[in-house]
Amino acid sequence: MAIRKILSYPDKFLRQPTNPVLDIDGVIQEIIDDMADTMYDAPGAGLAAIQIGCDKSILVYDGIPADVKRSLKVVINPKIVDSEGQLISENEGCLSVPEYMADVKRANSILVEGFDREGKPLQIEADGFLAIVLQHEIDHLNGKLFIDHLSALKRELYKRRLKKMRKK
Ligand code: NI
Repeated sequence: MAIRKILSYPDKFLRQPTNPVLDIDGVIQEIIDDMADTMYDAPGAGLAAIQIGCDKSILVYDGIPADVKRSLKVVINPKIVDSEGQLISENEGCLSVPEYMADVKRANSILVEGFDREGKPLQIEADGFLAIVLQHEIDHLNGKLFIDHLSALKRELYKRRLKKMRKK
């Protein structure tokens, strides 16, 4: 188990769609453990494998604040099979998009299908915060970042700010 480096925007690796996991072997279990360590260390509410440089379709999340009690959830090959309604995700942020938060339009409730780390089929009905976290992480697995949901102008302003920050 290890804390891994989190890739950050504009790293091109974050832009590639991930590949489905075909065999949940020891290597995959190790990646999941590293993802959990990295997420809790950050800390964040969710993490996608692509963020630590692995191009497999795996996400982890924990809807309970880490200082209360850990409840790690793993979804392998997640797919949103149904969604309903709309909400504004206020001040959404991402461990791969430093120093930036913005409001994002998301579905209010979703139905996700995938597999747990033992390979058992999984169905998750989520709404509100959990629905936001799952949509955000599934976006990552499709090469998408939350800033892609914003206007081109907002994204451009963020890019400029980031350049300035990195010069310092
Ligand atoms: Ni993110």
